[in-house]
Amino acid sequence: MKPLGPIPPGFSPIDGELAIAGRKARELVAQAGRTPLFVYSAAMIDARIAQLRAAMPDRLAIHYAVKANPFDPLLRHMAPLVDGFDIASGGELALVEAAGIDPKRVSFAGPGKRDDELTAALERGVTLNLESEGEANRALAIAERQGITPRLAVRVNPDFDLKGSGMKMGGGAKPFGVDAGRVPALVRRIVAAGAEWRGFHIFAGSQALDAAAISETQAQTLQLAAELADESGVALPRCNLGGGFGIPYFPGDVALDLNAVGAALTERFAALPPVLADTRFCIELGRYLVGEAGVYLTRIVDRKESHGEVFLVTDGGLHHQLAASGNFGTVIRRNYPSAIASRFGADVTEEASIVGCLCTPLDRLADKGGFPRADVGDLVAIFCAGAYGATASPAMFLGQGPAAEILA
Ligand SMILES: Cc1ncc(COP(=O)(O)O)c(C=O)c1O
Repeated sequence: MKPLGPIPPGFSPIDGELAIAGRKARELVAQAGRTPLFVYSAAMIDARIAQLRAAMPDRLAIHYAVKANPFDPLLRHMAPLVDGFDIASGGELALVEAAGIDPKRVSFAGPGKRDDELTAALERGVTLNLESEGEANRALAIAERQGITPRLAVRVNPDFDLKGSGMKMGGGAKPFGVDAGRVPALVRRIVAAGAEWRGFHIFAGSQALDAAAISETQAQTLQLAAELADESGVALPRCNLGGGFGIPYFPGDVALDLNAVGAALTERFAALPPVLADTRFCIELGRYLVGEAGVYLTRIVDRKESHGEVFLVTDGGLHHQLAASGNFGTVIRRNYPSAIASRFGADVTEEASIVGCLCTPLDRLADKGGFPRADVGDLVAIFCAGAYGATASPAMFLGQGPAAEILA
């Protein structure tokens, strides 16, 4: 048997069935009217944000990275809980606006922003995290044409990355941000052009579980921000320290020690150089806020054996949960946390693979895991599905279409 990833704390059975937000899986499926279904627990998101606020220094604002999960009811739920939103496209701008979020609370990072996206963002007062000198030129030209004072920040490509992170976004040649050495000249030019100077965005990596590595990166980020502000000769109003707080997905992963990160950052904030004395700081997090609060529920439609192996064939698959199938940014395929939701907590009695309904061998949600015996009609739960699930998977592949989603 191959091990399964750790089920996040907070999920327990009611009458032998997985309960999410205090409600049984079958009841949630009945509410949605179908499987496959993503369920997001509002209470778990609330608890996570409260925990984060308690651990981090008050001076640190918390922004939500919409890319992790842009489901409208979830965005509306987040609106009063976080201090700002990070978007990555004009499409995400439309989603945050539709959710009633003030665009002045929004910043826009990401390479390849089109002119129409820059225009929409500038017109609404969104802060642009500029990814290049070319993008700065286009933003300034659009602002001049439209008679707008643009709100501009510079995304810095630092010379360091976030150690142990699943996705490195800094260090060396990268399509993200402006190489640190060229930043001061760009800042001076933006300010001279009459823009509202919003500060630096320094995002070194994503999905790290090592508190010491995150703290080290935050220390490097603060030092770099101070050096660049000094060299620019312009006060630094804001500094986005990035994020990178990870969640345990795989066997052996251990949860991030949030208090250790908070304590180290509190110490750093107490000893800031004068150039950062009045700077406002934030982090932007996606998966850490919503990842563990989401469960993907799919129904077993066939049970079969092949060469002595049991396959539980579901009505879901990688078209909704690409990451669980191991095809989204992982090199070695390992099992996500998963369970038979309709027999939650029952003893393990067999080895089975949970597969999807797509005709590709890639479509495997759990490989040779240990489960209680399950049959056609049983529900499967894939945990850690709250981030990079529904919108980071090829929902239209083979004409399957999207899963249902509910915030419970
Ligand atoms: C610029 C930026 N901000 C925020 C995030 C969110 O990362 P995570 O969901 O791991 O917190 C990413 C992820 O790639 C990113 O590129």
